[in-house]
Amino acid sequence: MMKVGILTVSDRSSQGEYKDQSGEVVREVLSRLGVRVVVYDVISDDKDLISQRLMEWADEGDCDVIITAGGTGLGPRDVTPEATLSVVDRLAPGFTEAMRAESLSRTPHAMLSRAVAGIRGDCLIINLPGSPGAVRECLEVILETLPHAVEMLKGGGHSL
Ligand code: MTE
Repeated sequence: MMKVGILTVSDRSSQGEYKDQSGEVVREVLSRLGVRVVVYDVISDDKDLISQRLMEWADEGDCDVIITAGGTGLGPRDVTPEATLSVVDRLAPGFTEAMRAESLSRTPHAMLSRAVAGIRGDCLIINLPGSPGAVRECLEVILETLPHAVEMLKGGGHSL
């Protein structure tokens, strides 16, 4: 069973101003794959805090996949992509290319997300935009490819 970490990045949710609906949507959509959510947190838009959490979860948290939600836009506090880039060894741009391509057919605002995806050790880290609707739309694009991605990260071959 795929082990997942869900990291919501939002100043307001982390201060309790909002309920973390985005994290809930990640959990709901991923439940279709029968994953186990092993770690979950809501933190502020702080680059060091984000990269620290990603490193902890990838190195010690036993996560196959970490999904982040939020902080990918153009605002001055949007630093999730930079935090992610600072901890990954290799990029996996296909995930974010696919999400943006599909999202652009729904809204031109999709081009505002700077989300990135990459690999740290054998853990796949994927950024999603932060609104619950965007989370659902983007996650649905990559959902069916996640099990094969995890298989490949563990050294498995290509399925036909
Ligand atoms: N992608 C999808 N599929 N649906 C959306 O509604 N919203 C966009 C974009 N990507 C959106 C989307 C908007 S308005 C922004 S500002 C960026 O994601 C960045 O969002 P974030 O700063 O919450 O990460």
